[in-house]
Amino acid sequence: MDGVIFVIFGASGDLAVRKLIPAIFELHKAEYLPKNFAVLGVSRSDYSDEAFRSKVFFANEFIEHQDKENRDEEMEKEFARRLSYIPIQTSEPDDYAKVKTELTKLDKEFNIGGNYIYYLSTPPFLYETIPACLAAHGLNEENDGWKRLVIEKPFGYDLETAIELNKNIRTHFGEDQIYRIDHYLGKETVQNLLVTRFANGIFEPLWNRNYIEHVQITNAENLTVGSRGGYYDKSGALRDMFQNHLMQIIAHIGMEPPIAADAAAIRDEKLKLLKSIRPIKEEDVPSQVIRGQYTPSTIDKERVNGYREEEGVPKDSRTETFVGLKFFIDNWRWAGVPFYVRSGKAMPTKVTEVVITFKDPPNALFRKEKQVYNDNNQLIIRIQPNEGLVLKFGMKVPGAGFEVKDVGMDFHYSDLTDVHVPAAYERLLLDVIKGDATLYARGDSVEEAWRFVEPILNAWKKNPEIRVHGYPAGTWGPMVVSKLIESDKVTWRNPCSNLTADDNYSEL
Ligand SMILES: NC(=O)c1ccc[n+]([C@@H]2O[C@H](COP(=O)([O-])OP(=O)(O)OC[C@H]3O[C@@H](n4cnc5c(N)ncnc54)[C@H](OP(=O)(O)O)[C@@H]3O)[C@@H](O)[C@H]2O)c1
Repeated sequence: MDGVIFVIFGASGDLAVRKLIPAIFELHKAEYLPKNFAVLGVSRSDYSDEAFRSKVFFANEFIEHQDKENRDEEMEKEFARRLSYIPIQTSEPDDYAKVKTELTKLDKEFNIGGNYIYYLSTPPFLYETIPACLAAHGLNEENDGWKRLVIEKPFGYDLETAIELNKNIRTHFGEDQIYRIDHYLGKETVQNLLVTRFANGIFEPLWNRNYIEHVQITNAENLTVGSRGGYYDKSGALRDMFQNHLMQIIAHIGMEPPIAADAAAIRDEKLKLLKSIRPIKEEDVPSQVIRGQYTPSTIDKERVNGYREEEGVPKDSRTETFVGLKFFIDNWRWAGVPFYVRSGKAMPTKVTEVVITFKDPPNALFRKEKQVYNDNNQLIIRIQPNEGLVLKFGMKVPGAGFEVKDVGMDFHYSDLTDVHVPAAYERLLLDVIKGDATLYARGDSVEEAWRFVEPILNAWKKNPEIRVHGYPAGTWGPMVVSKLIESDKVTWRNPCSNLTADDNYSEL
């Protein structure tokens, strides 16, 4: 494998210290990294190499990655030797001369061969500045080894800013050098969506409008925004979760089989799928999109703040902490099949799952008279936590008659005791070294996802009378979200019940 230097901008920050450097360490420990590698942290804070190493090594997340029982101190020392830091003014082009000098030094010391990954783990307003500064010093040129740019979310604030960002970055780096990270795509279960569909003869024949009644995706977070209110209030659930992670999951569920298992073929099909989603017109937003905000409640006798009481959140904020949508995909496979998606904070549990509900048999021979809807034919794909799959179907209850009972066949990743399931960032970082962009979002698909979200953002901006529905923290979102699912044949699948008895559902 090629040698590589990881250059992490924003290295003093939360993401770099909690996720990125521990992921690189894990790859080093598992001997996935090339022999010749180095990590260079870059940001404004004034750390020496030693002080930076201490900051990283004493972070809880790093300690978790150390093998307490079989500690290999030599290996840890070797990693520390390859970890260094330089402080620069990140917005100051002249300061990148220091970056260049440091890279030349490390390149020689560790025999790298000119291959650099620039990881932008900074506030998003620097996503244009850093590539331009790198280019001003020729650090984008691939004369001697490759140069790759990894960009964190959020990629743009809306369609216009995403197009602008793509345009600006592409003046300095080619599309094949750009890796837009969506860490959901690094999750085994999201990748497994493709394997479940395209490596099994049993599912794919059923994966269409003839057999599927509807598709549900739930992305619930039990935490409130806590101290991140200032950041969150500028974003909201639609931008923070739906436009990126959930639309990528939708693309994996809905896409046509790619002609090959490579980045170009898979990303072409994902783009096609995103283009087939029927846009929600601004006038349909009130009936097809529900926005909500959590209100104060009591969980386990403890009072939980409402969103507007959180630090950094304006008292009259209309930012949604919950969004629920219904939409259709206009192609042959999915014509007429509703997709229901909801995502929220301060919900009863942390869970992300996809539920494929298959149609009832044509004649309900064994159904009880009162039973209107039978949800026994479902495939539940649990993305997190307890990653795995459950296939639910009806079985006869032993004894007289033909009473039907739901049973499930399940598989959990935790059953694979001898296999290391890599963290999302580990897998994604390894892929950049290999130059494999399959699990990264291509520029055109990011814009397409914004194109779908745009009319919803516009409708909310132009029509303040569109309600922000209150839901007590610890519940499954505003009650009105059940109305998205019009027919009495279908309900949301709630993996557990509300955490609060508080019925304080209010309109905001
Ligand atoms: N944290 C996560 O779990 C997470 C998850 C997904 C995506 N992301 C994205 O990843 C990026 C980094 O996240 P983060 O949580 O690590 O962010 P952060 O802690 O707010 O910022 C990272 C670093 O950027 C530098 N920085 C901040 N303001 C700056 C400014 N005005 N000019 C120059 N440098 C500045 C700071 O280092 P210095 O002060 O030393 O320069 C800071 O340590 C963000 O865009 C975020 O949206 C984060």
